[in-house]
Amino acid sequence: MTDSHAEEYDGRMLTLLQMIWGEGYLSPGGPQAVREIAGGIDLGGKHALDIGCGLGGLDQVLLTLGAAHVTGVDVSAGIVERARERIRRSGLANRVDIQLVAPGPLPFADASFDIVFGKDAWLHIPDKAAHFAEVYRVLKPGGRIAAGDWMKAPGPYSRDMEYFFEMEGLTYHLVTLAAYGRHLHDAGFVDIRLADITRRYRAEAHEELARMQGELAGMMLAELGEAGNAHFVEDWRSLTVVLDKGELRPAQIWATRPAA
Ligand SMILES: C[S@@+](CC[C@H](N)C(=O)[O-])C[C@H]1O[C@@H](n2cnc3c(N)ncnc32)[C@H](O)[C@@H]1O
Repeated sequence: MTDSHAEEYDGRMLTLLQMIWGEGYLSPGGPQAVREIAGGIDLGGKHALDIGCGLGGLDQVLLTLGAAHVTGVDVSAGIVERARERIRRSGLANRVDIQLVAPGPLPFADASFDIVFGKDAWLHIPDKAAHFAEVYRVLKPGGRIAAGDWMKAPGPYSRDMEYFFEMEGLTYHLVTLAAYGRHLHDAGFVDIRLADITRRYRAEAHEELARMQGELAGMMLAELGEAGNAHFVEDWRSLTVVLDKGELRPAQIWATRPAA
């Protein structure tokens, strides 16, 4: 992702995503998704890094799971400002530190974190090999990755997929789940576990579209205007198409940096 893409999530998009997924969340599943991804790991007293933290809602959940401290990083200055304000208001600023970073190498010393978390953010990172090399570097030996991310089906993108990207107005760099696993392996990770959750999110996305056309319609019209409302309903319809076809494939990922 180049700097020119850093502010792709505009105010309308942030409003819409939180209407659907809850205040502080820019990806599906809310607190339950964080518990599913990170809940199996002993976070007690640990220092977590959340790469692509968005508005920081997930970082608050990592604290409730026992993390002593969470550092959230994001490339969007607008999102970081909003996230800091949310965390300040929630009285957690001494335990959650939100930092603006440039895409690329992470501004942390080797072996700084016990866990690296990410939720549906690494799909924006073009160089997965460089990304996982950095994640490996900043993790302590024995440290864990726990993440959710979006994958693609093998082969070139279809016209439906290109249309979905156009509707989103976001830059995606998707790989297959198998390629993702190879990147993790090549970076040196072990105990790699990959779970494809397409079937479940497919059903949820259809429910989200129905809510947008039903109970959320009035709020969407009021907040986004008629054109904004129509745009995002079409965006979500295009999302259900690529999920139905199995071209867009959400997943959960776990891996470990070997103990020294
Ligand atoms: C779909 S949002 C998810 C945010 C958060 N993880 C959540 O689930 O609510 C993706 C986030 O990744 C951020 N992002 C994109 N490229 C990034 C990069 N190279 N490093 C860190 N964050 C990035 C975006 O600014 C955005 O906040």
